[in-house]
Amino acid sequence: MPLSKPRLADTLIRRIPPSHRADLSGILISEAELQTRIAAIGRAIAKDYVGKEVLVVSLLSGTVLFLADLLRQLPFPLRVDFMGVSSYHSGTESGHLVFNKELKLEVKGSHVLLVDDILDTGKTLRAVTAKLEALQPASIRTCVLLDKKERRVGTFEADYVGFVIPNLFVVGYGLDYAERYRNLPFVGVLKPSVYSEVAEAPEPVRKVAKKAPKVSKAVGKSIPAKKGKKAGSTGRP
Ligand code: IMP
Ligand code: MG
Repeated sequence: MPLSKPRLADTLIRRIPPSHRADLSGILISEAELQTRIAAIGRAIAKDYVGKEVLVVSLLSGTVLFLADLLRQLPFPLRVDFMGVSSYHSGTESGHLVFNKELKLEVKGSHVLLVDDILDTGKTLRAVTAKLEALQPASIRTCVLLDKKERRVGTFEADYVGFVIPNLFVVGYGLDYAERYRNLPFVGVLKPSVYSEVAEAPEPVRKVAKKAPKVSKAVGKSIPAKKGKKAGSTGRP
């Protein structure tokens, strides 16, 4: 389901914690749109797995809300397990992945449905699917809530996609910036000023700013190339 630009007028202001309000430029996907689309994805997945038991593998932590809603739409027997993977970026180098939580369930012979919050460059899902393939599942399919197609490096397509979104840094509904904003009930657009000031600040300031993301007035439209240094689950911007 393609979306062209954030609806800046649709703010649902009461649902945004006061400390986060000034950091968002708008809501990209509302709660109602999320639920409608997730129900449709659930129906598509259910059709593809008739008569099969599925092992749902979810990547922490960005999938927490999406997974909870998706699971309720899957009417077949399944097991759920979690993998932890973080992207670390430094300067202009591309990020490298660190696995920090391994699966505990047996993958061999299982029909794996890999769930992630957002497909961006594709690096994470390429690495995770390679790791899972080595464990000899019966099949692997991937499901992502969001797909920033224009950011892809190389080829990688998910089997089930909630929304194709433009190149904007989004937070909420599980997605974070510096581990914050995950509790917003919708997908919102983070103002570039929130992360560009952090990225450009000297190291000691950046550490403080990560605890309480800084807000300034400047607003831009697209996400710049990675800069500065950030280590964390999001790894970007
Ligand atoms: P990829 O490896 O470049 O495809 O990045 C995937 C990961 O980057 C996702 O699982 C997210 O954790 C993170 N990510 C990418 N874009 C965004 C965003 O707009 N908001 C929050 N996290 C993002
Ligand atoms: Mg992630």
